[in-house]
Amino acid sequence: MSRKMKNKLITNLRIEKIASEGKCLGYHDEKVVFVTGVAPGDVVDVRITKGKSSFMEGEPVKFHEYSAERIEPFCAHFGTCGGCKWQHINYDLQKNYKRQQVLDQFQRIAKVPIPEVMPTLGSEKTKYYRNKLDFTFSNKKWLTIDQIRSGEEFDRNALGFHIPKMFDKIIDIEHCYLQGNISNEVRNKLRAFALENQITFYDIRSQVGLLRNLIIRTTSTGESMVIVQFGENDPESIKVIMEFLNQKFPEITSLIYVINLKGNETFHDLELVTFAGKDFIEEEMEGLKFRISPKSFYQTNSEQAYELYKVAREFADLKGDEVVYDLYTGTGTIANFVAKKAKQVIGIEYVEAAIEDAKLNSKLNGIENTLFYAGDMKDILNEEFIANHAKPDLIITDPPRAGMDEKVVEMLLRLEAPRIVYVSCNPATQARDVALLAEKYDVVKIQPVDMFPQTYHVENVILLSRKAH
Ligand SMILES: C[S@@+](CC[C@H](N)C(=O)[O-])C[C@H]1O[C@@H](n2cnc3c(N)ncnc32)[C@H](O)[C@@H]1O
Repeated sequence: MSRKMKNKLITNLRIEKIASEGKCLGYHDEKVVFVTGVAPGDVVDVRITKGKSSFMEGEPVKFHEYSAERIEPFCAHFGTCGGCKWQHINYDLQKNYKRQQVLDQFQRIAKVPIPEVMPTLGSEKTKYYRNKLDFTFSNKKWLTIDQIRSGEEFDRNALGFHIPKMFDKIIDIEHCYLQGNISNEVRNKLRAFALENQITFYDIRSQVGLLRNLIIRTTSTGESMVIVQFGENDPESIKVIMEFLNQKFPEITSLIYVINLKGNETFHDLELVTFAGKDFIEEEMEGLKFRISPKSFYQTNSEQAYELYKVAREFADLKGDEVVYDLYTGTGTIANFVAKKAKQVIGIEYVEAAIEDAKLNSKLNGIENTLFYAGDMKDILNEEFIANHAKPDLIITDPPRAGMDEKVVEMLLRLEAPRIVYVSCNPATQARDVALLAEKYDVVKIQPVDMFPQTYHVENVILLSRKAH
């Protein structure tokens, strides 16, 4: 960015509309200005943080008018924590904006004819809806400007979330409205215990410190899994900490730890130790049981996952004699959910533990018409695989945020299943994939589903139908 642009102040900018990733935009000198932390209708002075030839980015420094769409955020951490960027916008508008995002992405990226985008299916719970949160221990607590200016000395140990775009700074969380149950209590009591006992918090730069990460997973049936990651191998102290959690929270049904001496926080390649209870938790949906192990993905808003799967099942419109491929099946939740309405369901996923869970989930529920395979989608879904299995009448695909690999899209075009139900947590990559699929498919239904109230994220389910030859 040119020096001239940096810190430039744009005064009285009217915020026109919501843009992607929770930002809003206004126009100045025929350029788009993306602004964080504002709402459409605000009039603000903006300090420019990034300037390019076609757009600028900035943050508000003074509000002249507040939008009538604003509401009072309920969380004390709002504005600093990156978690719930839309708490200042009422829920009906959040849903409208999510629908608008889907429409924009399809018009801008997919550029294919589309049916009307249905209104966003809202989440009944708009607080305490997550079943999983991931907290980081750090000796680099984020201090507010006021705290720094006060000249006071602050303890720098923290347990909470990463500050957006600052990999080593952690906001110390007192109360998080995203997860109910025992989540807030476990986090706060563990932090207090660690501080009292002078247990070290992780230093991400030098990679030392015993307490590294805390994951809490809960289910609608009242089970909970707590996973503590340690950054050092100190068996005695680990035992003291795990014993503390076990004694203090007998309601934890799965208490696990992992020693992680690697450079990153992922633990899919590490051995987990079950300190107390079971090595899994169980979720329930429509009478079906789903086993979730610590390394497996499970939709993070359980109640709304049920609504999402119902949309997928409705779009699938199965009669009972179809072969269904469920791509990116995770623990086989969708596969098992639709199995009783299909002849056979074949699920593919690359996390082996998830595939083990998927098989177990079928067994647990007496489902006998599913097959599951572990492997990278682009490698496993090949000609040989197709030759060895029946061709699909329907494909359900639910890839990660990056969308489908181009090789996978090419394979779908070769497979020519009559219908594809595409579930996505990122309409931009979904729209990109749809542009490629448009060679043989029409988009016939679009239903945005809100899995994450108070955030700009939107899940989107579409139905694609093969074009007549
Ligand atoms: C959005 S989740 C969907 C899970 C599942 N459909 C559900 O609703 O619980 C995406 C899944 O794709 C898996 N995955 C990501 N990349 C993959 C790849 N290249 N090949 C196979 N599976 C992959 C992830 O492990 C994850 O389980």
